[in-house]
Amino acid sequence: MINYRDLGLVNTRDMFEKSAKGGYAIPAYNFNNMEQLQAIVQACVETESPVILQVSSGARKYANQTLLRYMAQGAVEYSKELTGGRAIPIALHLDHGDSFELCKSCVEYGFSSVMIDGSHLPYEENIELSKKVADYAHEFDVTVEGELGVLAGIEDEVKAEEHVYTRPEEVEDFTKRTGVDSLAIAIGTSHGAYKFKPGTETKIRLDILEEIEKRIPGFSIVLHGSSSVPPELIEKINKYGGRMKDAVGIPEDQLRAAAKSAVQKINIDSDGRLAVTAAIREVMATKPSEFDPRKYLGPARDALKELYKHKNVHVLGSAGHAWD
Ligand code: G3H
Ligand code: 13P
Ligand code: ZN
Repeated sequence: MINYRDLGLVNTRDMFEKSAKGGYAIPAYNFNNMEQLQAIVQACVETESPVILQVSSGARKYANQTLLRYMAQGAVEYSKELTGGRAIPIALHLDHGDSFELCKSCVEYGFSSVMIDGSHLPYEENIELSKKVADYAHEFDVTVEGELGVLAGIEDEVKAEEHVYTRPEEVEDFTKRTGVDSLAIAIGTSHGAYKFKPGTETKIRLDILEEIEKRIPGFSIVLHGSSSVPPELIEKINKYGGRMKDAVGIPEDQLRAAAKSAVQKINIDSDGRLAVTAAIREVMATKPSEFDPRKYLGPARDALKELYKHKNVHVLGSAGHAWD
């Protein structure tokens, strides 16, 4: 059993208290490998932003849980090296945990925050599972994110064709009975690079968010599926041999508005994947004799860092808040 504090990590409680007061949201970026982690830490140090490092079940399988734990610890040490002293606040969070056992294992492996995603379960079962995880995690001061409502797209390897928006009338009961620290809601965002059908309005339901805020004032809200799918990245991918048609994301101004409200955590993964893919495709297409992975992973890492810096400054508003 390793406690997250021994790794130099923080949980999300303090982060969310400060972001609520400051009118910004904490970036939650997924990582699976060293280059992604370096880009996240570099970007967040350079913009002086707190950050949540997210690990999905897929990432755990891909990279190995022991390696990931040491990488997160390494991220704290690396940030100290970059600042020349103090580490930026870094939380290690399980993204879309689907069972009590997985959440328990992450708590024991040094995670400072876990998500229990019971959103596909019947309401009462979601409550029961989320409460069980919250009770266990809180013994170790690990914070817990629950979810109500279902995002369209692929979530937990389940494909939902339609959104099931979070019902505002359920949030008070759910948060009270489970004891979770934050709540992921479904208001029209979705996972992946194809969030809206071509020709349809690219709008999320900020009115539902407002209604939820009224029911649980001050409670920390989380938005999943919040990539913006920058058209210039799609163009670059397609220019260099990719085939991504009709990819559309959430407009940045809508996320900025959400970040100023009760939304304290915004999850972004797909945009990073696009930045990496565009950079690697460009090297592969323009330098076909190159075969040193550092020559394409390096530019991919640089592109990723610039993307995250942009998000922290212009979308999340978290830049400059590391030392709040
Ligand atoms: O919510 C999904 C995240 O983008 C993680 O994706 O399960 O493919 O690692 P993944
Ligand atoms: P995107 O696919 O929009 O980046 O969402 C990521 C996410 O919600 C991770 O949990
Ligand atoms: Zn998600």
